[in-house]
Amino acid sequence: MMPPYITTKRYGLSRTLETRTGDICYTSYPKSGSTWLAYILVLIVNDGETPEDTTLRDCLHWVASSWTYPRSEQELRGLPSPRIFKSHMPYAMALGGDPSRSPCRYVYIARNPKDVAVSYYFFEREKSWSGNYSGPWEHWLKLFTEGRVQRGDWFDHVLGWWHSRSLENVLFLKYEDLCRDFLGEVGKLASFLDYSISQGTLEKIRERTSFGAMSSTEFSNMHEIQEFTGFFREGRIGSWKEQFTKEQSEAFDELCARRLAGSGLEFDFD
Ligand code: A3P
Repeated sequence: MMPPYITTKRYGLSRTLETRTGDICYTSYPKSGSTWLAYILVLIVNDGETPEDTTLRDCLHWVASSWTYPRSEQELRGLPSPRIFKSHMPYAMALGGDPSRSPCRYVYIARNPKDVAVSYYFFEREKSWSGNYSGPWEHWLKLFTEGRVQRGDWFDHVLGWWHSRSLENVLFLKYEDLCRDFLGEVGKLASFLDYSISQGTLEKIRERTSFGAMSSTEFSNMHEIQEFTGFFREGRIGSWKEQFTKEQSEAFDELCARRLAGSGLEFDFD
């Protein structure tokens, strides 16, 4: 189930897009820290410097979307390398066709699903693109656990990319690891992309992409989109605890145990 601005035409273009060496596509289920990852990627390819006279959104190419950056195929072809593509697609619908046959490097970021469900609930409320959803939390949680929200079932989405993580052009990251060991994870990301960055640049990236810096800097704070007030909400692990009841939490834990069983995929919830 897709948001209305993911049109058949734009999706078709993203699927058949000819990718090339040096391309980077970051992807995630919504509300998993993808904007944070996007800024980190922009800084990695610019040696820690924020590009001038532009915004984060303008440094990214969201091919499947007709809403924010509807660039034509020709414009996309003419963009200089490295092109950074944004996507929220599951593995089977990845930008550029089957990732196992693409020269593009794919970076997937996943986050514990309790925090995703809560972040998504606050994000979707009263937004025009979600039909101005205004239901109560219990209703949202039911929709989320049944996979009846935009972008569909969280488990299918994450597991699709998890199972492809052994491909040499796929890197699977977790939001919680980025919170806990930022320098280690960004170092891993840079080397996956074949960028060698100094300790000083790593530190610079950490400062510029901190929650406080990102939410207060015009380059990254999404001020240009009116409905995005509150986009930078909590920016931490575990805010689900203020939202889930004990019963909801236990039922969700059971669902996770069942759906992730045998996958080897685990998350930190605290
Ligand atoms: P919360 O709503 O829990 O605060 P996405 O960019 O994929 O839509 O994810 C949004 C989530 O990432 C929001 O979570 C947001 O606050 C969080 N986030 C954004 N920038 C962050 C940063 N620099 N550090 C930590 N979390 C960040």
